[in-house]
Amino acid sequence: MSEYKTLLFEQSGAIGIVKVNRPDALNALNAEVLTELAQIFGEIARDDSIGAVILTGEGRSFVAGADIAAMREMSALEGRAFMQKGQAVMQQIENLPKPVIAAVNGFALGGGCELAMACDIRLASEKAKFSQPEVGLGIIPGFGGTQRLPRLVGKGMAKYLIFSAEMIGADEAKAIGLVEKICAPEALMEEAMKLAETILSKAPIAVALAKAAINNSANVDLPSGVAFEAEASVAPFGSEDRLEGMAAFLEKRPAEFGNK
Ligand code: COA
Repeated sequence: MSEYKTLLFEQSGAIGIVKVNRPDALNALNAEVLTELAQIFGEIARDDSIGAVILTGEGRSFVAGADIAAMREMSALEGRAFMQKGQAVMQQIENLPKPVIAAVNGFALGGGCELAMACDIRLASEKAKFSQPEVGLGIIPGFGGTQRLPRLVGKGMAKYLIFSAEMIGADEAKAIGLVEKICAPEALMEEAMKLAETILSKAPIAVALAKAAINNSANVDLPSGVAFEAEASVAPFGSEDRLEGMAAFLEKRPAEFGNK
């Protein structure tokens, strides 16, 4: 893995752990962090030794938003380009053919909440805080927040959160479907690793295609979605992992998956 200025990377077995590392700015996303996130997720996509990713933040914050100091200097067109850059990174993470778990250790505000939403599954520390504060800064969520938040929590709740800019804690975030599980702060990484290991014990091609089919469901009508699902089932059915998974069940033993 390359050297990064604003990210830390660690690999444990087949799990890649990416940490946003600008703790002095509570890990706010400036252009450099976005560029480096795009680079590292590109490297992760190409690296067969990594099967699952955990994304978290260094220090007391996950990511406290897009960098307000940087955005203050932008013209309208520069602002749009910055939003498009952020959107591209979020889509890259969302479409990575490997599971990505957000371990939300603290503030997930604005672009940080959007980054967490681009991940497949969100685990949150009891100390995590979520909000889309943009309208209070005179802008709108621009890294996909107006699109992913209503898909996760429904239109009414998304409007409530975005119009009011209210900050909510982990309990409320879980109650509305913004996070899947809450952990004690000291257990967050362990829980994220455990979940990643569980997913890694399943057939990787099947997990990747289930991810693609679920992602696709947000973009199409039901008949098109199930048609995509049928096509997405072809590769798993043709894989050695399918033969192994079904043989293991019938022989009453754990499956050993090898395909990447
Ligand atoms: N962009 C740029 N810098 C940020 C930032 C952001 N989104 N969020 C925090 N920082 C910086 C602060 O400016 C401060 O820098 P300084 O030490 O040079 O003054 C440092 O991070 C620590 O933040 P601070 O505000 O002192 O910490 P706090 O514990 O009092 O408050 C927050 C924490 C998260 C509530 C507060 O920092 C905040 O509201 N941040 C902005 C959140 C936001 O609106 N994000 C959406 C952007 S679209």
